[in-house]
Amino acid sequence: MYSKKLKDAHDGYTFDDFLMVPSASSVEPKDVVTKTRVSRNYHLNIPIISSAMDTVTESEMAITLAQEGGLGVIHRNMTIKEQVEEVKKVKRSGDLTIIDVITISPEASLKDASEIMDKEGISGLPVVKNDVIVGIISRRDITPILNSDAERSVGEIMTEDVVTISESTTPDEALDIAYENKVERLPVVRDNRIVGIVTMRDILERKKYPSASRDKIGRFVVAAAAGPFDLERAIALDDAGADIIAVDCAHAHNLNVVKFLRTIKNNIDADLIAGNIATQEAAEDLIAMDVDGLKVGIGPGSMCTTRIIAGVGIPQLTAISEVADVASEYDTPVIADGGLRFSGDIAKAIAVGADVVMLGNLLAGTYEAPGDVVIMNGRKYKQYRGMGSLGAMTGGFGAGTDRYFQEVKGPMKHAKLVPEGVEGVVPYKGPLSEVLFQLVGGLKASMGYCGAKDISSMKKNAKLVKITSSGIKESHPHDLLITNESPNYPTTRLM
Ligand code: XMP
Repeated sequence: MYSKKLKDAHDGYTFDDFLMVPSASSVEPKDVVTKTRVSRNYHLNIPIISSAMDTVTESEMAITLAQEGGLGVIHRNMTIKEQVEEVKKVKRSGDLTIIDVITISPEASLKDASEIMDKEGISGLPVVKNDVIVGIISRRDITPILNSDAERSVGEIMTEDVVTISESTTPDEALDIAYENKVERLPVVRDNRIVGIVTMRDILERKKYPSASRDKIGRFVVAAAAGPFDLERAIALDDAGADIIAVDCAHAHNLNVVKFLRTIKNNIDADLIAGNIATQEAAEDLIAMDVDGLKVGIGPGSMCTTRIIAGVGIPQLTAISEVADVASEYDTPVIADGGLRFSGDIAKAIAVGADVVMLGNLLAGTYEAPGDVVIMNGRKYKQYRGMGSLGAMTGGFGAGTDRYFQEVKGPMKHAKLVPEGVEGVVPYKGPLSEVLFQLVGGLKASMGYCGAKDISSMKKNAKLVKITSSGIKESHPHDLLITNESPNYPTTRLM
């Protein structure tokens, strides 16, 4: 009976156990489309999202990732108020229309106008009477006469003929209107009342990121993590404008967690991603709670010790494929979370059914990741730690504790916690955009080899070959001393 357990145990595989088979292809990497779905209602232009970890994702990471077409999941090792503010920073940063417009009345003096512009660091003010826009005044109008006529009223000098736009004007239309009328600022009006302002600089900035992940009204898309039973946080993040709430738990197939997912889902408008899981049964149970995306990965992470401390987990490629078999029947996106070390691993995850990958280690150490650069032995590093590490569970808001079902009442005591992660450093990697360029470039190369023009054909058609340890040895560079570091294959390999 016991020996049967061993006999019945099936094989589990991970990234290094397989390669993809080169296939007849008429697809050039440059023509590949990497658009995918991260949750039922949100598409991304690149299949990459960042881990909800306190050394990976705060607003800076989420903004840059959204600009590049991916998505950041703001970590929850902070108070609800702080996390809400991080979400708002992302939403504000991708917003073309400034909503809290600073205005001035026509009776105010030029001196007042100049002072407001100095204080707020802006160079123009809509002039408003009883909420209705009656003119616009700019620094250029004031400067020549400020010394001699500082007490003259704004109403005398302002331009009365204001070029305005409505809320439905697209960025391209706004740009045309601004060029045609040679104006820098376009007040947004509804029934003659000012509801926002768009500046030429913001429109041009937006055009720099044509692939950015945006919501229906053009703001950046952002996700935020909430604990498995933290309804208050989930609701606050939803209210703050988070597009996706990612319930973040080490074992989402805990049946109390499964049950509570329904409560969270019923109380938010945002999409709900739930994880982590690694089996078909878990996928069935979570999908029954109407989740919008499934996150897969029990213990593959580079700083995880779950598989060693608890002896539990499923090698990641097997886990992704098992969950994807079920998820595809219900049209639910799959996020492969953890264990990816190279761009080729992103392609392999997609080949076995993932729609998106979640990266911790590969994005930690970038300029946009939280934390400072430290120099050790002449090389630059940044901290990277597991959310189940002692440092993360006792520092910040102690978010790791409920992720790992640990409860510590009163002051945190190290001795009462059983960590499932470690703390360390990763090499400093420079700007995120350069790292993404290499990761997406590697994925596109892979899709070219496999003859896949887009993510869905990669999922459907990529074939795999199982390899041995000699196959892995042959795959990596061998029998030479590498003299020049490659941007997508670091020579300083850690552990
Ligand atoms: P990578 O391999 O990209 O993995 O560094 C990131 C993912 O690891 C998970 N995570 C943890 N897992 N103990 C764990 O067992 C931890 O302390 C821990 N912290 C993060 C998480 O899913 C992340 O996205």
